[in-house]
Amino acid sequence: MFCVAFLLLTTWSSVECNPSPVLGDAVVDRYFIPKVCTREAKTETTFVITYNATFVDGKTFDSSQGGSAREGRLIAGVDKGLQGMCVNERRTITIPPHLATAQPGDVVPPDTTLVFDIHLLDLWNKADMVLTKTVVPESCSRRSVVGDYIRYHYNGSFLNGVTFDTSYQRNSTYNTYIGMGYIISGMDQALQGVCIGERRRVTIPPHLAYGEQGAGDVIPPSAVLVFDIHVIDFHNPNDTVNIQILYRPEVCNDTTAVNDLVHYHYNCTLVDGTLLFSSHDYENVQDAVLGSDKVIDGLDEGLRGMCVGEKRLITVPPHLGHGERGATGVPSSAVLVFDIEMMSFEKGVPPGYLFVWLEESPANLFEALDMNKNGEVPQEEFGEFIKLQVAEGKGRIKPGLTMEQIVTDMFQNQDRNKDGMITANELKLKVEEDKEREEANHDEL
Ligand SMILES: *[C@@H]1O[C@H](CO)[C@@H](O)[C@H](O)[C@H]1NC(C)=O
Ligand SMILES: *[C@@H]1O[C@H](CO)[C@@H](O)[C@H](O)[C@H]1NC(C)=O
Ligand SMILES: *[C@@H]1O[C@H](CO)[C@@H](O)[C@H](O)[C@H]1NC(C)=O
Ligand SMILES: *[C@@H]1O[C@H](CO)[C@@H](O)[C@H](O)[C@H]1NC(C)=O
Ligand SMILES: *[C@@H]1O[C@H](CO)[C@@H](O)[C@H](O)[C@H]1NC(C)=O
Ligand SMILES: *[C@@H]1O[C@H](CO)[C@@H](O)[C@H](O)[C@H]1NC(C)=O
Repeated sequence: MFCVAFLLLTTWSSVECNPSPVLGDAVVDRYFIPKVCTREAKTETTFVITYNATFVDGKTFDSSQGGSAREGRLIAGVDKGLQGMCVNERRTITIPPHLATAQPGDVVPPDTTLVFDIHLLDLWNKADMVLTKTVVPESCSRRSVVGDYIRYHYNGSFLNGVTFDTSYQRNSTYNTYIGMGYIISGMDQALQGVCIGERRRVTIPPHLAYGEQGAGDVIPPSAVLVFDIHVIDFHNPNDTVNIQILYRPEVCNDTTAVNDLVHYHYNCTLVDGTLLFSSHDYENVQDAVLGSDKVIDGLDEGLRGMCVGEKRLITVPPHLGHGERGATGVPSSAVLVFDIEMMSFEKGVPPGYLFVWLEESPANLFEALDMNKNGEVPQEEFGEFIKLQVAEGKGRIKPGLTMEQIVTDMFQNQDRNKDGMITANELKLKVEEDKEREEANHDEL
């Protein structure tokens, strides 16, 4: 069982951890001084100590081993003897009778010298929220604010350097909203104003951490916590896709749009540059029909309005990417960065169409189709007609399919009685078919 005592000492401006054997006649023996002593007492310092108090003959007078001493319970001379003490230091303080002024209820006999053997476990200053170290990356386009969702790694330790928790053992970042009370308030503050990629060390006093209660078996009462934080990424649930154009050819007459079949190279990374996927891993460039749910929403949006040869960096927040669940190879709630080069694209047609008119369709479509005017149109004649429209720029076929596939499909759709000929009665534009189908549905309802 681990017992601690609390001492509240006021009005110390600055205390250094230099050896100072005598302080106000209290004799101090610093028999163990830790190598690193980063924390010093300021005003209203609270110390967390364990101690044994004996008379000079070695007989025990008081000790924290049997139970927690109350605040202010220790005699006045100890105050002076704690000055300049480092966390984790051990020292004995010998207090002469004139300083060993007992408080009411104490059992110190008069004219007695007392020896306190003290181990300082922790200390904190009332105003503490100390940022002792921060490494900001060279480029930092935005700093985190309240309401952002952050992913970070951390090592949590006590002032004595003992680690009590680390995110690394879980192989996943710790993810949370910032400044909304989901985490201890010291950490909530510490995560505001960070850059992506930043490393921060924050020292959190107990009143901004787990307080006098501590937490379970892990955090003892009144513990100061030190977190080393590495910010992986953050985003705001309101964030949209961020598009950074790296290069755009001077001649850019035509750009990609919904329904187009686009061919592009990409590297997909996390914001820290960790490569997740690359089109260069495969033989061919990547292709996708825009607006067809082939790729994540954010990328689909980022691929629009591009001309051939254009290069972009597209940053996709998770709600427009793989979301809170992530995907194979994609951590949950990760912001993704796509490095894109548009290689080529073919203008597309709306979903469900094989061919669209780019100009007004002929007033009498059957007459136009029936080029030899014999009243019926076989597949060859139909195919010739479609090819001519495409060649003259009057129509467009669905990209990604061959002309033969298109013609066969369209012909079979129109040859309703399957006799190998389209007649005037059979022929219908898809727009009209859709309209009729809709009306039929309305009638049914
Ligand atoms: C107090 O005495 C106990 C028992 O001898 C010892 O284990 C402990 O380390 C001592 N505490 C301090 C702060 O010296
Ligand atoms: C998102 O935007 C709305 C409207 O601007 C705002 O009220 C809300 O606080 C924002 N949400 C976050 C998490 O910042
Ligand atoms: C974390 O990853 C390492 C190495 O891939 C593995 O050995 C370990 O079991 C993983 N730990 C957890 C908690 O998944
Ligand atoms: C946490 O500790 C591990 C092991 O010492 C170290 O590799 C890692 O960089 C530390 N992380 C932070 C954020 O300091
Ligand atoms: C782009 O448009 C300009 C002006 O209309 C034209 O002169 C040029 O030939 C076009 N370039 C390409 C590659 O289509
Ligand atoms: C992707 O990475 C490869 C290899 O590092 C590089 O050659 C290429 O330019 C990068 N960008 C794109 C869009 O492929």
